[in-house]
Amino acid sequence: TTVEWEAESYDMGGHDTYMHKEISEQADAVDRVLRGRIDDRFSTVHLGGLNLDAREARGVRRIKILGCGTSYHAGQIGAQLIEELARIPADAEPASEFRYRNPVVDPDTLYVAVSQSGETYDVLAAVQELKRKGARVLGVVNVVGSAIAREADGGTYVHAGPEVCVVSTKCFTNTVVAFALLALHLGRIRDLSVADGKRIIEGLRKLPAQITEILENEDEIKKLAAEYADAKSMMFIGRVRGYPVAREASLKLKEVSYIHAEAYPASELKHGPLALIEPAMPTVAIVPDDELLEKNRAAMEEIKARSGRILAVAHQVQEKADHTIVVPKNENELDPILMGIPLQLFAYHTALAMGRDIDKPRNLAKSVTVE
Ligand code: AGP
Repeated sequence: TTVEWEAESYDMGGHDTYMHKEISEQADAVDRVLRGRIDDRFSTVHLGGLNLDAREARGVRRIKILGCGTSYHAGQIGAQLIEELARIPADAEPASEFRYRNPVVDPDTLYVAVSQSGETYDVLAAVQELKRKGARVLGVVNVVGSAIAREADGGTYVHAGPEVCVVSTKCFTNTVVAFALLALHLGRIRDLSVADGKRIIEGLRKLPAQITEILENEDEIKKLAAEYADAKSMMFIGRVRGYPVAREASLKLKEVSYIHAEAYPASELKHGPLALIEPAMPTVAIVPDDELLEKNRAAMEEIKARSGRILAVAHQVQEKADHTIVVPKNENELDPILMGIPLQLFAYHTALAMGRDIDKPRNLAKSVTVE
């Protein structure tokens, strides 16, 4: 399906910033990326523009995802989804690093370029270099007809609609959903069972209502933002599925509020960053109710033992945390799609209280079309 962007999508629609408007639009945006794509008969999805037939998809030995900033973080979650659902080894790398390190370009690897604008120069240059070497490159792109979309061999649009705020929010969420669709599609061509395909489809269908539920909690998140606004620096932690969520949430806070933030895998704390923990450095912990729940609780205990304050994003109230933002539970694989959304609001309200220029943070541009 093609979704035309209408002039009214640029209207502020009663919001004081585009960031707030775009955060608020996420249930509809996710609905749009799912629309017309689910195939209940075979418990899979159709992605019309991939240009990759079933035989070719079976031949893919590895997937390499390239993007910058928020798109790179979405790609990290995408790589995990592909490994979990399709069992194809996958990883994400900043496009700029990839293109400057003389990478080994392998004919059995499928490359995926991720970009909201479709114009980011480092991503475009990586795509052009890959194509020159004969690699197959797909695009996961928001802006229809953009340079990266045109250059790629095929791909999927993420249908987030226009994103005006320099700080990406709804496009991140939609990009991760697009990756879930790609992972499900590849999985069902390979070894993902009908039952698991069904389970993931049911999870995907729940997303828009669950996003609405999270956004209804805005007043509470605003209060929490005020509670932590005195922090000079914040630590964001997560494990496996939660780690890219932590990285993205830390980037959001930095970009829009200018508060320094670090993101670490929770398991790495004891290898150094624990030295930073003290009352003035609060931690945001991503704590999904999955196989790693107990491990995450242990990490929170270590932080408490050093008098650190903790704000958890979790599926149930966490006793070790000072505060918990409770988010609705989905399938384990899809939880990362939802867990970052309250932290977009957290960054927004922190920045608002500090009087920041929310839609145009200092030193940043919406699309970076230079090296
Ligand atoms: C997101 O909040 C950032 N402003 C930035 O990291 C952005 O995601 C990056 O520049 C990539 O842009 P793109 O998705 O348009 O390629």
